[in-house]
Amino acid sequence: MASSSVPSTMKALQIQKQGGLEVLEIHDVPVPQPGPGQVLLKVEWAGVNFIDTYLRSGLYKKETPFILGNESAGTIHAVGPNVSNVKVGDKASGYLATGGGYAEFALLEDSKIVKLPSNVDTKTGAGLVLQGLTAWTLVKEAYEVKKGDYVLVHAAAGGVGLLLCQMCKYLGAHVIGTTSTTEKAELAKANGAEYVILYGKGESVVDKTLEITGNKGVQGIFDGVGKDTWEDDFKVIARKGTIVTFGNASGAVEPFAPLKLSAKNIKVVRPTLGNYVVTREELDRYSNELWELLAKSVIKLSVHKDYSFSAEGIKQSQIDITSRGTTGKLLIKIS
Ligand SMILES: NC(=O)c1ccc[n+]([C@@H]2O[C@H](COP(=O)([O-])OP(=O)(O)OC[C@H]3O[C@@H](n4cnc5c(N)ncnc54)[C@H](OP(=O)(O)O)[C@@H]3O)[C@@H](O)[C@H]2O)c1
Repeated sequence: MASSSVPSTMKALQIQKQGGLEVLEIHDVPVPQPGPGQVLLKVEWAGVNFIDTYLRSGLYKKETPFILGNESAGTIHAVGPNVSNVKVGDKASGYLATGGGYAEFALLEDSKIVKLPSNVDTKTGAGLVLQGLTAWTLVKEAYEVKKGDYVLVHAAAGGVGLLLCQMCKYLGAHVIGTTSTTEKAELAKANGAEYVILYGKGESVVDKTLEITGNKGVQGIFDGVGKDTWEDDFKVIARKGTIVTFGNASGAVEPFAPLKLSAKNIKVVRPTLGNYVVTREELDRYSNELWELLAKSVIKLSVHKDYSFSAEGIKQSQIDITSRGTTGKLLIKIS
């Protein structure tokens, strides 16, 4: 193993039992050792994601104990055998399919780590790697957005939502965003939404979307809200359109009968980033494209707030992201 000196223990947000906010505790745990094809990252920034709340609460079941956090950036501190993409001292970011990011050191698979270009700092790297790759694979693979399309982006001022608005506009689509407040609506518009509908504020997503599209509906829907928006998605999707359901911010979508699709011959996909970016080639392709979008100012990172690496800081980040008070990206400053 090539490395700088590695301490034996570190601070980490380790969940010992899934549950309420009280399970968010910092513990002293052993520093993991990189095996073949693995690297040890000295974490500077960790990205907050809605999935952290599902993994904390138990909506997504996971064997305990585990260290929370799926998105980190920092400096490569040690590399195991058979790692050729990064070396000790490189600045890198990665998404951690199995968690471990809310810690002073994080273990990553070589196939999930990206060396940062010199114009991307570690804060931006942590802020974009998971949500940016998610948004980009959604618009390229889940529903390939085409010039002239009308697309509906729910929670358009959120972390993934703002990136989706910017990317869909870049791809030539007319973006209809939904959000809950006028401030969020302004932000979504500044990031590429041509129209914004204030759901839950007396504006009907169905009526407005049909009015905007001349009753045809939208070709693609990107829905990370889930339960609350799901049924209306079927009313505003165009014939042969695609509903991309990729999250559960308002709760999980209920099972449904496939016959429901035949009314307009539509497709429903339920993707996750971890199954779009599996191989080194997939990671290289999508991350290179992502940094290119950033360099061309097609996308920018919009940071809501930096939180401290403490039980209180991480609790507050989860209270904030679930209470609909945030826009864009939330980050934890680790070191
Ligand atoms: N499939 C994947 O690979 C993948 C990867 C990353 C993220 N995701 C999913 O993408 C979605 C967005 O994630 P994010 O981290 O970017 O979060 P986010 O969008 O920044 O925050 C969630 C937003 O959802 C909206 N929302 C609507 N109903 C809500 C409710 N009942 N409770 C809380 N929020 C509600 C709120 O926006 P308004 O106030 O505007 O309604 C809120 O700001 C999540 O569902 C997440 O699980 C999926």
